[in-house]
Amino acid sequence: MRIILYLGKGGVGKTTTAAATALRSAELGYKTLVASTDIAHSLADSFDRSLSSVPVKVADNLWAQEISVVADMHTYWGKLQDYSKNFLTGRGISRVVADELSAFPGMDEIVCLLHIDKQAKEKNFDRVIIDAAPTGETIRLLTMPDTFTWYVSHLSRFERGMVKAIKPFAGRILQGPAEVVEAIYALQEGTEALRETLSDPETSSYRVVLQPEKMVVREAERAVSYLGLFDYPIDSIIVNRVMAENLAEGPFYQTKYQIQQKYLEIINNNFAPIPIWKAPYYAGEVVGLDALSRLAHDCFGDEDPGQIFYRGKVQEFIEHEDGTYLMRIPLPFVTSDNVKLRKRGDEMFVTIGNFKREMILPAALAKRKAGGGQLVDGVLEITFPAPAPAPEAPQP
Ligand SMILES: Nc1ncnc2c1ncn2[C@@H]1O[C@H](COP(=O)(O)OP(=O)(O)O)[C@@H](O)[C@H]1O
Ligand SMILES: [Mg+2]
Repeated sequence: MRIILYLGKGGVGKTTTAAATALRSAELGYKTLVASTDIAHSLADSFDRSLSSVPVKVADNLWAQEISVVADMHTYWGKLQDYSKNFLTGRGISRVVADELSAFPGMDEIVCLLHIDKQAKEKNFDRVIIDAAPTGETIRLLTMPDTFTWYVSHLSRFERGMVKAIKPFAGRILQGPAEVVEAIYALQEGTEALRETLSDPETSSYRVVLQPEKMVVREAERAVSYLGLFDYPIDSIIVNRVMAENLAEGPFYQTKYQIQQKYLEIINNNFAPIPIWKAPYYAGEVVGLDALSRLAHDCFGDEDPGQIFYRGKVQEFIEHEDGTYLMRIPLPFVTSDNVKLRKRGDEMFVTIGNFKREMILPAALAKRKAGGGQLVDGVLEITFPAPAPAPEAPQP
């Protein structure tokens, strides 16, 4: 089974491109499910028909679904939350902190993905296309399984201790907590398996949808940088609403067109070698099967959009023993070796001959000064030396 997740800032055309991808995949004969986990569902608008939280057949080989965390999961999850909150306050942790910890931000979305994964396996879908929540939230949720696993393993260790301590006295009272412990373990196991599936490049691919505009491009860079940091496989960038040359005369169209051209060049530089697909800006809305099918053809040509378009790494971080970080970015198409770096907070501007790239650094590197950069066998290597130790406080 293939899972393809579409990410992007709200309004860029995430739902539309995810729906178009799914439809084309179905046309090619693959049993395909397109599922939306974005609370701002628009899959139904895209297909121009009503949908529900169970898969509905919308075309040959194609099912669509707008997930809302299934009701019983809510109850089940609610139980767990209440329990952990009470449990934590009982341990001398303030209620405010306990509330925060037991809220598990993004957890209901993990439950959503668990649900989609389970159902896709049961129903034998060849491909699952996920119209995910906007970039920020999705990335938080994708990095979440680790944090969650850590948290839960602590919680359950406490729990095991507690069960042992009161077992001789409590007897049947333990029914409740034991169930909860079981639920925690089940959720933890599911979450670990899910993370494995979602980071396996032979199963899962991430596609960032954007349009040629400043704010959108910046957010997409952040998304790619974070996905790369956590080793989630990105196989494409999709630029939506690309204006055709000379479609209209007059300064309004021409100015907009020129602005797009500028950002298209930035997109080419900042995301290569990840494949970049372009979907045209249509005069009408992209709604219904015909319009979606046309978009898929205009964007992917004759290619099967369900294939894995790219398998390489986007970036790599190596920590040396002396605390130096080495950041490696494959740039196989750059020839000059005159590397110049400029860093401003978490942004880094790289110039290599005529090639320019802007990128967003992960928090740990943003705090450091960048050492030198050099191109080694088509890979840009930038060192980030460990910060100098703080001078010792003078003795009184
Ligand atoms: N390439 C395009 N050309 C014209 N209209 C588009 C295009 N892509 C999307 N739209 C329209 O823009 C609106 C928002 O698209 P949508 O896919 O729902 O965005 P998102 O899911 O990112 O919020 C929809 O009405 C859709 O029909
Ligand atoms: Mg949407």
